[in-house]
Amino acid sequence: MSFETISVIGLGYIGLPTAAAFAARKKKVIGVDVNQQTVDIINKGEIHIVEPELDMVVHAAVTEGYLRATTSPEPADAFLVAVPTPFKENHEPDLSYIQAAVDAIAPVLKQGDLVILESTSPVGATEMMAEWLASARPDLTFPQDAGENSDISVAHCPERVLPGHVMRELVENDRIVGGMTSSCARRSVELYRTFVEGECIVTDARTAEMCKLTENAFRDVNIAFANELSVICDKLDINVWELIGLANRHPRVSILQPGPGVGGHCIAVDPWFIVSRTPDLAKLIKTAREVNDDKPEWVVEKVKLAIAKFLQVNPNKSVKDVTIACFGLAFKADIDDLRESPAMEITRKLCDYHAGEMLVVEPNVDSLPSDLSEIASLVGLMEGVNQSDILVFLVDHKEFKFITPVGQEVIDTRGLFS
Ligand SMILES: NC(=O)c1ccc[n+]([C@@H]2O[C@H](COP(=O)([O-])OP(=O)(O)OC[C@H]3O[C@@H](n4cnc5c(N)ncnc54)[C@H](O)[C@@H]3O)[C@@H](O)[C@H]2O)c1
Repeated sequence: MSFETISVIGLGYIGLPTAAAFAARKKKVIGVDVNQQTVDIINKGEIHIVEPELDMVVHAAVTEGYLRATTSPEPADAFLVAVPTPFKENHEPDLSYIQAAVDAIAPVLKQGDLVILESTSPVGATEMMAEWLASARPDLTFPQDAGENSDISVAHCPERVLPGHVMRELVENDRIVGGMTSSCARRSVELYRTFVEGECIVTDARTAEMCKLTENAFRDVNIAFANELSVICDKLDINVWELIGLANRHPRVSILQPGPGVGGHCIAVDPWFIVSRTPDLAKLIKTAREVNDDKPEWVVEKVKLAIAKFLQVNPNKSVKDVTIACFGLAFKADIDDLRESPAMEITRKLCDYHAGEMLVVEPNVDSLPSDLSEIASLVGLMEGVNQSDILVFLVDHKEFKFITPVGQEVIDTRGLFS
């Protein structure tokens, strides 16, 4: 059965580009999001996130009638669930968004439909999603009971696109397609073939879930190594960026770059999904998470030392006279995504600590998040450089690479000036 109508549930950084990619191939796409504002913006042919090329694709898809957004699901042949999967206070995965999406789509499911979980999920979540769907629709059969002949096909297909390059990577990247049965996987591959030019590699749902988590845990562990090195080198008065450059001359060594911590919706979150399922076994993965989570506090301590040093050199000034500028709030370079961002955490902590003026330079946002807007000022690049005594570089945005500090104290967490 071919896919005439495709529904994407959750129109965020993953769901909207995915919906747009199908619509650009002239598929009828119904985008569903609980946020009315998001739905209204998309239906105007505009976008609510920063992602290169997405605006043009969405605008064309909406004007040509291939993409429409709504707050309540409608019948479709395939449903792709791309809702958030954060963790709770105790680092346990929060699957409530998936459950809410399941509750919403269950009433409109019909025989022959395909449901794909795209959200990054702990091992077993796809099977759980299928159980929730089965409880909501006892009149339909699902793969866990009916196997290859189920009325509804269910699969997990994790997303691994790089923010800032999503429209290209959606098409070019290989996809891991984890079907609950081989026919679920086959149907999913057929669907992704609409726009995916990379290879679609078939496996089972549990392996696909673990594959995505493994990719991000691998990155996290390797970044933790670089971050730990940076702290050790600081103590030993060694330039960590020079050190890593030298070590990487070894043909089989490839150390990543340190930073102020690890952020974003993926690398800082997904390893916990492994830890939560196998706490006694995931020792290295857990330690890496802790090393990376400790780094923002270390940066804050470096800034406190810089304030003390500045006051020592300028004994006529008090703390209130010291202006600090934080450069970058996003969790990585050249994007507007502030989620789980160590730069946000550091800036917040500095605002709480520092009695003087706090400036923020973030070229990718128009206003500061509400918890910072009262205590810090968003300023332009040159204002941040010229009006501050201490410059804290937290993100290597392209705009920052041309800055030349003029005698201020500099905390360079990204090696911009090394
Ligand atoms: N952002 C990335 O780079 C990236 C990369 C790979 C995987 N992922 C994974 O993809 C999933 C989605 O992430 P994202 O970055 O797109 O999140 P996002 O927060 O940008 O978007 C999620 C959207 O889902 C909507 N939503 C929440 N509950 C809903 C519901 N019940 N029904 C319909 N809509 C609902 C929200 O309003 C929001 O617009 C997560 O599991 C994430 O881990 C993200």
